Amino acid sequence: MLNRGSGLEIKNNYSLEKLNTFGLDVASEFFYIVKSLRELKIVLRENKTKKITIIGGGSNILFTKFLDGLCLKIDLKGIDVVEENKNNVVVKVMAGENWHDFVKWSVNKGFGGVENLSLIPGLVGAAPIQNIGAYGVELKDVFVSCETVNIKDQTEKEFDEKRCLFGYRTSRFKTIDKNIYVIISIKLRLTKKKHKYNISYGSVKEEIGNRKINLKSISKAVIKIRKSKLPDTNFIGNCGSFFKNPVINEKKYFELKNMYPSISAFKVEKNQYKVSAAWLIEYLKYKGKSIGNVGVYKNQALVLVNLGGATGKEVLYLADKITSEVYSTFQISLQPEVEIL
Ligand code: EPU
Repeated sequence: MLNRGSGLEIKNNYSLEKLNTFGLDVASEFFYIVKSLRELKIVLRENKTKKITIIGGGSNILFTKFLDGLCLKIDLKGIDVVEENKNNVVVKVMAGENWHDFVKWSVNKGFGGVENLSLIPGLVGAAPIQNIGAYGVELKDVFVSCETVNIKDQTEKEFDEKRCLFGYRTSRFKTIDKNIYVIISIKLRLTKKKHKYNISYGSVKEEIGNRKINLKSISKAVIKIRKSKLPDTNFIGNCGSFFKNPVINEKKYFELKNMYPSISAFKVEKNQYKVSAAWLIEYLKYKGKSIGNVGVYKNQALVLVNLGGATGKEVLYLADKITSEVYSTFQISLQPEVEIL
């Protein structure tokens, strides 16, 4: 026990192996599971001199070494409808809720907006940090605001959608305000009727086929696609996409298209193309390949997998090798999507 004053039982030298989906066996110097807002403020106040690391589901973190300082797992629970009119609801979801359980809850209630985000691993509190997205929908599309606690002075602050500075897999919490706030809850606006179904993604459209388009069928299709492409973190350690899809300008895109006619990319804005990082990696023949205990997943080249007993450093070694080969072949810098600690 570290803090006799508050009576919070902080663990020492705690293994995080079960708390990161890569399944890496690393330990944290100090560790605590936060069950209430009150506890969060106390633990932060009483450990001001320590480096604080916040984890949710551990599904977007690569631990490469022993974690110094205090690691807090946020376990705040609760889902509530806080506003309602005839067309919409605003739901408040606490940071420690499992994201996919929340999506299931929404779909079962007939609330639309997050069905395309089915089966994304991790907890709700991590969702705004990287503006999770899949199959044509991003969190920012339904986002109203999030409540936070400042790590240094424990003050509470709410950020609305605009002030979160969301972008492709990014937000203020990953950039200008990195490691400043703990997200404690989010509010999302969901539809009760006149749902805006998004089946723009070819594979979703294909999977639904002749079935009726509704929240359940979209969610089911997304689950099926994800299961076929992405490894189940319960059996194969991984963090989903390891890299972001790089965005390049039109001139660069046409140069590459000329040299590699089958390159997979699509226009995101005027003069901007998002290139499939998976295609680049597959072109370099990494798909299904392994080095030591780390591999590139056989069904999705963007996913690195722990084949058993891997260390974070080994994962990083393969990631760096891929990054430098992609750069020397295509002159594109791959950026990791996962947080490397
Ligand atoms: N492709 C390949 N080889 C592969 C896989 C894909 O060449 O091994 C090419 C194909 O041309 C395919 C295209 O890449 O049509 C897109 O593939 P996919 O639909 O699997 O999407 P992605 O761009 O590889 C992104 C997200 C995923 C998200 C899917 C669906 C990023 C970094 N990743 O992957 O998100 O589920 O789109 O929307 O943006 C995650 O963030 O962890 C994640 C899994």
